[in-house]
Amino acid sequence: MVVYTLKINNEKHVVEVDEGTPLLWVLREHLGLTGTKYGCGISACGACTVHINGTPVKACVMPVEGAVDGKEITTIEGLSKDNDHPLQKAWIKAQAPQCGYCQSGQIMHAAALLDKNPTPNREEIKQYMNDILCRCGTYLRILDAIEMAIEKPISMK
Ligand code: FES
Repeated sequence: MVVYTLKINNEKHVVEVDEGTPLLWVLREHLGLTGTKYGCGISACGACTVHINGTPVKACVMPVEGAVDGKEITTIEGLSKDNDHPLQKAWIKAQAPQCGYCQSGQIMHAAALLDKNPTPNREEIKQYMNDILCRCGTYLRILDAIEMAIEKPISMK
């Protein structure tokens, strides 16, 4: 077992886990951050997407060692203070989820896109979001939600 110090959602966490433990298990099993989901475990679905220094990363295949040394990890729990990120509001307004399982990964991936390109067109959104799978097929509502988020501010009414 090795002791690692991680910075997650602006808080320092110290965990003792086996070398090579995937970041996803550290988040879910050791720190209770269960918003990040396990889908495939082989970097194919994107349900486990978190940000490391603002870049979307599949936490299921990221060994914990890759997330240390002061790197900033952001999970869905840390995306906004009051679940009020424009994407989170838009997700509700568009009623994007069906079963909901992949949606934190979808939102985290979309957030990384908007950080890089605040005004992507529909084709650019489609291309970027192609990396994250939804078994319910909510893709059209996800695209709508991202477009809604671009047209800020979003009222919850
Ligand atoms: Fe990580 Fe599917 S669980 S990509």
